[in-house]
Amino acid sequence: MAPLRVAGAVRVPGDKSISHRSLILACLAEGESRVAGILDSEDVRSTAGALRTMGANIPELSSEMRIGGLGLRGLRPPTLALDCGNSGTTTRLLAGLVAGHPFAARFEGDASLSRRPMKRVAEPLTYMGAQFDFEHGDGLPMTVHGVDLRSIDWDTKSASAQVKSAILLAGLVSEVEVRVTESSRSRDHTERMLRSMGVDVENDGNQVCLRPARRLTPLDLAVPADPSSAAFFVALASLAESGELQLDDVCLNPTRIGFISAIKRMGGDIRVTARATEGGEETGTLTVHPAPLGNLRITSADVPSLIDELPLLACVAAAAGVELEITGAAELRVKESDRISVVVRNLRAVGAKADELPDGLRVRPGAREFSGIVDPQGDHRIAMAFGVLSAVSGNRIEIRNPDVVAVSYPGFWEDLKRVAA
Ligand code: S3P
Repeated sequence: MAPLRVAGAVRVPGDKSISHRSLILACLAEGESRVAGILDSEDVRSTAGALRTMGANIPELSSEMRIGGLGLRGLRPPTLALDCGNSGTTTRLLAGLVAGHPFAARFEGDASLSRRPMKRVAEPLTYMGAQFDFEHGDGLPMTVHGVDLRSIDWDTKSASAQVKSAILLAGLVSEVEVRVTESSRSRDHTERMLRSMGVDVENDGNQVCLRPARRLTPLDLAVPADPSSAAFFVALASLAESGELQLDDVCLNPTRIGFISAIKRMGGDIRVTARATEGGEETGTLTVHPAPLGNLRITSADVPSLIDELPLLACVAAAAGVELEITGAAELRVKESDRISVVVRNLRAVGAKADELPDGLRVRPGAREFSGIVDPQGDHRIAMAFGVLSAVSGNRIEIRNPDVVAVSYPGFWEDLKRVAA
């Protein structure tokens, strides 16, 4: 296989976290919101569908959307279950929203989502007054019975933007003050968007406090490119033999740039230009050149800012022939798949040296050319991480069920082909 050369520019699709939130918050606003550049993927469609089931006026997802808001408590009791598909963000954020409405909703999802833990949102929302009924353990299907909630001061003992956002949304629709303290700061898109809609939300270190608001002004938002999707191309360009890749309009929210920092710590060559601020989020253009990469250790303090990029980091280490140790990341076991076990199993299947740790993994230098079949177990980010490894020269890797990327990045394979020659 010819040496990998990268060239061109990619504008990866809109940020998934911001896209989910833009639909939810637009529904709660008074008046018409404008959302440009929303991510049209299966996960975001799940949020749109669930909100429509509760009476929201959300048109088909498109690059220029106008969404009529219903006000803070305008949603209606659903007559069908809310189908959350594969999306943890849909489930946990909408659990918070439903908890503060005077009705019940049943949440359903696919096999992967049904295995994921919901106690983390059920606990604080139950404390606020809602009721949760589970049929098996603390997974889906679940029914949330909403009421007028009371105020809460909650210590999550972890960093989870989904839990934090569920509590913020519950407080918002019940018009009560809520305070959430995390072990370290998780992504703060909900807070930024709420502030832009006129809500008094204050971040102080790892703590956030939302004060009651009577109304939300409509959103006027252009969704920046998703840093978690851009990460695949940062990795690809770093591992190439020659060329240069440009990634436009990437969201550079400080809670999301852990992967860029990690690649730089390994010796990567990433430059940021065209810095701007869009709808309360920092953005910029990344220019990435190939560079020799070195060993890396990731510990719990690093994890929240690159949690979704850890499978990719493992593939980067294998391709670069360096040592990587990830600890403090047990959360990976309850993502769309058990990402520790699925990454290690697949790295070994293609000839890399990798070991599971209870709360992370280790990749050790070994072969530099990999071949075999990868089974991502239906997990979009694992399919794309190994997609990058498969594009590196010398590797012959087949990925089973590649269409699973539609969960977050439907055009991934086309973009990969376009820039990797
Ligand atoms: C997300 C938060 C993170 C992340 C997920 C999206 C969000 O999950 O892994 O892909 O949009 O709030 P946790 O909150 O469980 O860490």
